[in-house]
Amino acid sequence: MDYKSLIIPEKLPQHVAIIMDGNGRWAKQHSKPRVFGHRNGVKAVRETTEAAAELGIKYLTLYAFSTENWNRPQLEVNALLHLLVETLSKEIHTLMENNIRLTAIGDLAALPDHTRRALLEGIEKTKANTRMTLVLALNYSGRWDIVQAARNIARSVQEGKLDPDQIDEKHFQEYLATREIPDPEFMIRTSGEQRTSNFLCYQLAYAELYFTTVLWPDFRKEHLYQAIVAYQQRERRFGMISEQLA
Ligand code: IPE
Ligand code: IPE
Ligand code: MG
Repeated sequence: MDYKSLIIPEKLPQHVAIIMDGNGRWAKQHSKPRVFGHRNGVKAVRETTEAAAELGIKYLTLYAFSTENWNRPQLEVNALLHLLVETLSKEIHTLMENNIRLTAIGDLAALPDHTRRALLEGIEKTKANTRMTLVLALNYSGRWDIVQAARNIARSVQEGKLDPDQIDEKHFQEYLATREIPDPEFMIRTSGEQRTSNFLCYQLAYAELYFTTVLWPDFRKEHLYQAIVAYQQRERRFGMISEQLA
């Protein structure tokens, strides 16, 4: 099936967020250690990023490492962070060629120095690119995001810069890690798990959710096209009734 030709350009989501899941199970299927799955997930990252930019999607957020992922065996955590640095330095030129800007959300201060440095270098080098923004969610969790926003709002109030009565949704959003990024209209999770695992809890409030059993290392452009087609077939009502939308 050629899903790409079914995509309606005028109805593209502006922001797609993806929970890249299933690397460990993919490795198991190939009788290899889990890290082998993570390594093979890089190709899916490249394909998805390219496909999204080619389609004209403006923001792509990839959940790369959650706050909870620190609880994995130390060896796997180290391997994941190492792979991230390696991939960032290898792929910067691909981002440059494709005019893609890199950015990151999460508690970056708590990342190991070399990881944070590689990340900041990539962000700096690509900052003038305009075709698409690739957002890496790193040491990210949705609850962390809400809590850090609350903390900074409290600080602004304490310093007399903000009146509590002024705080509305628009204002609150300015304190989230995604302050410069529109909310995702569409979220994809691979591997068959049907949960959001502490991803963008506030920002996904009205997103369409899409679950596929494809394991992340097997995810290719065609899978993204298929997901977008499914998204475009949904009716987003935002509390209204069908007739009002026409
Ligand atoms: C996703 O794959 C990668 C990260 C969470 C970093 P997993 O490693 O969670 O793979 P499964 O879910 O164990 O198969
Ligand atoms: C979510 O996947 C985090 C990332 C993809 C980075 P997990 O595999 O860590 O989530 P759970 O543990 O299945 O909920
Ligand atoms: Mg998983």
